[in-house]
Amino acid sequence: MKIDVLTLFPELFERFNDWSIIGRAAEKGIIQLNCINIRDFSTDKHKRVDDYSFGGGPGMIMQVEPIYEAIESVRDGNSKVIYLSPKGELYNQKIANSLSEEDHLILLCGHYEGIDNRIVENYIDMEISIGDYVLTGGEIPAMVVIDSVTRLLPGALSSSESFEDESHFNGLLEYPQYTRPREFKELEVPEILLSGDHEKINKWRKYESLKITYKKRKDLLLKKELTEEEKNMLDEIRKKEP
Ligand SMILES: C[S@@+](CC[C@H](N)C(=O)[O-])C[C@H]1O[C@@H](n2cnc3c(N)ncnc32)[C@H](O)[C@@H]1O
Repeated sequence: MKIDVLTLFPELFERFNDWSIIGRAAEKGIIQLNCINIRDFSTDKHKRVDDYSFGGGPGMIMQVEPIYEAIESVRDGNSKVIYLSPKGELYNQKIANSLSEEDHLILLCGHYEGIDNRIVENYIDMEISIGDYVLTGGEIPAMVVIDSVTRLLPGALSSSESFEDESHFNGLLEYPQYTRPREFKELEVPEILLSGDHEKINKWRKYESLKITYKKRKDLLLKKELTEEEKNMLDEIRKKEP
């Protein structure tokens, strides 16, 4: 997958490109992550890319021309242009799954008070928000999208890693996990995980996954289609933890 990030701060991505799963995926050629400095497309002699808001008001707005030129410098027939914005669709695992099917993502990072709305209305395919709060720029949201999408691409995770059981992938939160030592300050790991009985362990994990989702995120259960086994488990959980 090709990923082009349009930003005023390409240096923020220098270490990110080498980091953990992203770095491995880049090394294996699973992603080609490239940063484009929007300032390079400024025609102003001082390389300015922002100006005052028509109608008045505080702060500066990123201008339409350099953003347009930056998008056009990388856009091709298969590109999906995404503007990271607090006004966008709230990002979740389902959107990450669907973006992982794309060939080419162009991630546009705003700064200052945002960008000229003619870009939003005419030159982007999707607006994504990573939460109902305002950040200084779109760079951290772009990293969130890149990270969550990359780990879904075939070959990005090693054979000992998997995303299928992870929180949100199948609409539930992940079951609790433990590692050595077996005992820490008299706190023991659940006996069943040491039993070696994988059928029982899988059942326990499914139950715990439902239980933690019921306790922390009942809203997720409303959206999920449960199997008969899961419904029975949930009934049991409700009786124990009303
Ligand atoms: C200070 S914000 C601009 C906020 C804008 N004035 C508003 O009230 O909607 C600057 C840039 O940060 C990015 N940004 C801020 N919050 C974000 C969020 N929750 N999700 C995605 N991008 C965000 C956007 O790219 C935005 O253009």
